[in-house]
Amino acid sequence: MKSLRTIVAAIALLGTATFDRAAAQQDAVERELEKYRQMMKADPWSNPALLDADDGEALWKKPAGPNNVSLEKCDLGKGPGVVDGAFAALPKYFADADRVMDTETRILWCREKLQGIDNSEFLKNPHPGGGARVKEVGRIATWIASKSAGMKFAAKLDHPKEVDAVEVGKVLFNRRMGPFDFACTTCHADSGKRIRLQPLPFLSKPEEAKKVVGEWPAYRVSSTHVMTMQHRVLDCFWQMRMHRVQMGSEVSNALIAYMVKTAEGGDVAAPGMKR
Ligand code: HEC
Repeated sequence: MKSLRTIVAAIALLGTATFDRAAAQQDAVERELEKYRQMMKADPWSNPALLDADDGEALWKKPAGPNNVSLEKCDLGKGPGVVDGAFAALPKYFADADRVMDTETRILWCREKLQGIDNSEFLKNPHPGGGARVKEVGRIATWIASKSAGMKFAAKLDHPKEVDAVEVGKVLFNRRMGPFDFACTTCHADSGKRIRLQPLPFLSKPEEAKKVVGEWPAYRVSSTHVMTMQHRVLDCFWQMRMHRVQMGSEVSNALIAYMVKTAEGGDVAAPGMKR
């Protein structure tokens, strides 16, 4: 009996030791990745997202779709063709579409209305997988965002439909849902929380939201591609084991409106660089 207990204890110890070793190895990998990220950040010109921004500009200017026109007449909220500072004032209510739209949603709209592109095929799979390059809409969004870098977030969000969107976003952010019964707040409503080495920003707190929301779209070192805010929201919904949220949907736009409102006055520093 005694020896059996000793054996059980030994097996338990062995289990913990294996687990500890795996965790330590994982931590070591994360620390090396962190060093790599710091080196990349030290030289902003090394951010690979800039290549996507350049390509996004070329895509914006290139005639495409059944109408064979460019996106240069697209109104991002400051008048047709005005890109400088547009991102810093989005999301916004657009009367022509009668809805609140963020940058990516507006690009989809202009593709359809100006270029005559049917987005339904693209929307089946609009985000890149690990290792693949960010897709066209994301590249254009990266360029548009980069043209507001250094500005402050200044989306007015005072039109009744904008106020509604922010309110819906706030409810969604706080609402527990899905098989894990998680809300965004489960992971993002405390200071100093982390999963492994990734700090989890307190996104409902303006001081913390201001620091990170303006960094998206961002180059994500671990998946080697640019991730846009629509993609970020989808990925966090996935962590909650929720359905795939569609790029440009009311739900993702409401969450983005809420986060941008919380980050009001923060700097736009896109494209950023993330783990
Ligand atoms: C299970 C925990 C979890 C939940 C729930 C969750 N997230 Fe996240 N979120 C993360 C993790 C982990 C990261 C960091 C990911 C990374 O670095 O790869 C993150 C990152 C983010 C970021 C980027 C933060 C930064 O540092 O720039 C945003 C924005 C975000 N989440 C929004 C949301 C929203 C909106 C929801 C609800 C729809 C949500 N998250 C729900 C775990 C979660």
